[in-house]
Amino acid sequence: MPNLCTPLCAILGTRLPIVQAPMAGGPTTPALVAAASNAGALGSFGFASTQPEAMQRDIEAVRALTAAPVNLNLFVLPQTPAIAARDQQAALDAVAAYYAELGLAQPPAAKAPYAPDLDAQLNVIEDARPRVFTAHFGSVDQARMRRMQAAGIRIGVSATCVAEAQHLQAQGVDFIIAQGAEAGGHRGSYLRDPHETMTGTLALTRLIVRAVNVPVVAAGGIMDGAGIAAVLALGAQGAQLGTAFLTCSESGAPAVHKQSLLAAREDTTRVTEKFSGRAARGLANRFMREMEEQDAAQLAFPAQNMVTGALRAASAKAGNPDFVAMWAGQAAPLAREMSAAQLVATLEQETLDALDRLAAMRR
Ligand SMILES: Cc1cc2nc3c(=O)[nH]c(=O)nc-3n(C[C@H](O)[C@H](O)[C@H](O)COP(=O)(O)O)c2cc1C
Repeated sequence: MPNLCTPLCAILGTRLPIVQAPMAGGPTTPALVAAASNAGALGSFGFASTQPEAMQRDIEAVRALTAAPVNLNLFVLPQTPAIAARDQQAALDAVAAYYAELGLAQPPAAKAPYAPDLDAQLNVIEDARPRVFTAHFGSVDQARMRRMQAAGIRIGVSATCVAEAQHLQAQGVDFIIAQGAEAGGHRGSYLRDPHETMTGTLALTRLIVRAVNVPVVAAGGIMDGAGIAAVLALGAQGAQLGTAFLTCSESGAPAVHKQSLLAAREDTTRVTEKFSGRAARGLANRFMREMEEQDAAQLAFPAQNMVTGALRAASAKAGNPDFVAMWAGQAAPLAREMSAAQLVATLEQETLDALDRLAAMRR
């Protein structure tokens, strides 16, 4: 088969310029990550909400399944300060009727710390020495970054605007993930308001490729080889796909999330802060619509996850899409049900086919 490799492949240690996106909260199981890496892409764990001990277990599990490079990913954010009782009550009141509707006990007030200890998470990653570490919401401090890079870990960070990409280049990252507005999940914006950095993948990739001289990986709305070929044409050296991997058999996304993606017929996604406290794109559902309409109270990220967590879990368990955070990119209707190995092989063939079709236009 012809070679699809870009210079980024040498950085990532992969055969293909394809990254299975890290997806915190359950989808990126060891089986998914290993299958993506074994197939020639870069498998990635989304460890943002994972405690250090559980990270270690997942890292051991993936090492038993693959010797290929993998990526470990975190949200690089300071701890949210303790939230006042009055604000806690307002956020709990805003969801009380939903808990009652599902016959659930009302959730307790969220208790700080609201997220796992970032330093402890980073220490696990340093000890594990993966080929790649990527971060969302900015990079780690300079001393940590230099130490990780000296240990052979390649570092990539998401950017949602040119200013973030230039800032990351100045900090010395090995590559930049240009996350367009189409992308599923949390917007990785960290210098500007996420609602104001809604440049689409096509425009953003090209702008960032022109503005920096480190390799760029495009993310957002890429579901097949045509999308991968498109971002390669823009000068990206790789493509990061999240939603496309959610419907793989190895993905740990809840069944109702997978079914809703496979049933999606047009772009029915929107960006909301109501599930987690930070802007993220997902399939629109009743919770998103009603909470947005009422401009309901919410806690700061990630404490709002504690307000909505039990509701989301119960709704997923019941197969009810109304209260599940079904993160998805705008091209979700292109989702396919297959194994991760099949998906990566299909993406490879489709990319080659798309490049052939384009080349044929010159004849
Ligand atoms: C379910 C889901 C969870 C995500 N979680 C993370 C995460 O933990 N870390 C991260 O860097 N990006 C995360 N993202 C964003 C992806 O890295 C990527 O930007 C996005 O999936 C690209 O758009 P697409 O979903 O249209 O392919 C997530 C995306 C989805 C769909």
